Amino acid sequence: MQTASISFDRFNELADKAAGERIRAARAKLGDKVVLLCHHYQRADVYAHADITGDSLKLSRLASQSDAENIVFCGVHFMAEVADILSRPEQISILPDLAAGCSMADMASLAKVERAWRELAAVLNPDEKITPVTYINSAADLKAFCGEHGGIVCTSSNAPKILEWSFAQREKVLFFPDQHLGRWSGFKMGISLDEMVIWNPDLEQGGLTREQIEKAKIILWHGYCSVHQMFQPGDILKFRNQHPDGLVISHPECSFEVCKQSDYIGSTETILNTVKAGPPNTRWLVGTELNLVERLAQEVKHEGKIVQFMASTICMCSTMQRIDPQHLAWTLENLVEGRVVNQIKVPEHEAKLAKISLERMLAVS
Ligand code: 13P
Ligand code: SF4
Repeated sequence: MQTASISFDRFNELADKAAGERIRAARAKLGDKVVLLCHHYQRADVYAHADITGDSLKLSRLASQSDAENIVFCGVHFMAEVADILSRPEQISILPDLAAGCSMADMASLAKVERAWRELAAVLNPDEKITPVTYINSAADLKAFCGEHGGIVCTSSNAPKILEWSFAQREKVLFFPDQHLGRWSGFKMGISLDEMVIWNPDLEQGGLTREQIEKAKIILWHGYCSVHQMFQPGDILKFRNQHPDGLVISHPECSFEVCKQSDYIGSTETILNTVKAGPPNTRWLVGTELNLVERLAQEVKHEGKIVQFMASTICMCSTMQRIDPQHLAWTLENLVEGRVVNQIKVPEHEAKLAKISLERMLAVS
């Protein structure tokens, strides 16, 4: 007879250190039955338990290559969905706290994208003229939409390449949900700012005229990351005044003005690798989430490198923070008992279509 899963209530009160010890004990019992994937924004006391760390592209590739029965994803909901879609059918993808979402991903829904597609059809035939491109930070049903309509997924590390592929298919792109990644990537491939327009999903026909839609090369969804939009060009100016030899590196989810004034732009993995490979005794201003920046500052300190966070206020991804040692210990102890809690399972039909757009991306990048 099967026993009920262990309730989270018993873990809620655990101190971080005690939860950490229980994570280690459970992992020792589980051995290679479990692989722990961890995004770079995770808090230090979760990150310490990772088997594999990475940006979204690296983690989605490695999720599909793992042999473990259980993939425990310390990240956000869309990442665990990608792991489920790309892994083998018998593998189980788990998100330790189901409330760990991505507020940017929530800015585009299937209903709104389908409505946009219908409204665009009043001006041109979207299935002939527009490649839909979804940032990996989106729900599985939007990846399925792209799979069904000749589109593709991109991440922060391959977006320019993915745009090139998209324009080889059709003359325009509908890019969702992150306007900033879409704008920066378009600009990098030589598309001028006036050939990119914003689609506001709350307005009829996106708030655009027929002429604007006909003229546009990229239609950018009105979405953004609330963490990265905190960084301001003024933060960079202040840093450059104080440290003229300093270097600035930012994530492409930052605004166009911040990206333009940065020396380097890249995914979380690229940010880490660039600063680590940089010359000793350099000073860096980094425009991405605080957990990553604090960890990086510690890791490169011995080389005389100084790493500074770009904003004067604290910018953390509060949803990533939901994955704490207590939820991780709870998830793993349930697995030890043969119980799966918080499985992320994408419905089969949706997963099949989403896999098409993800595999197109993996083939291109
Ligand atoms: P990366 O793919 O660069 O890790 O970005 C994911 C993300 O959500 C950044 O906010
Ligand atoms: Fe989403 Fe922004 Fe958090 Fe990244 S940092 S997971 S884009 S809310």
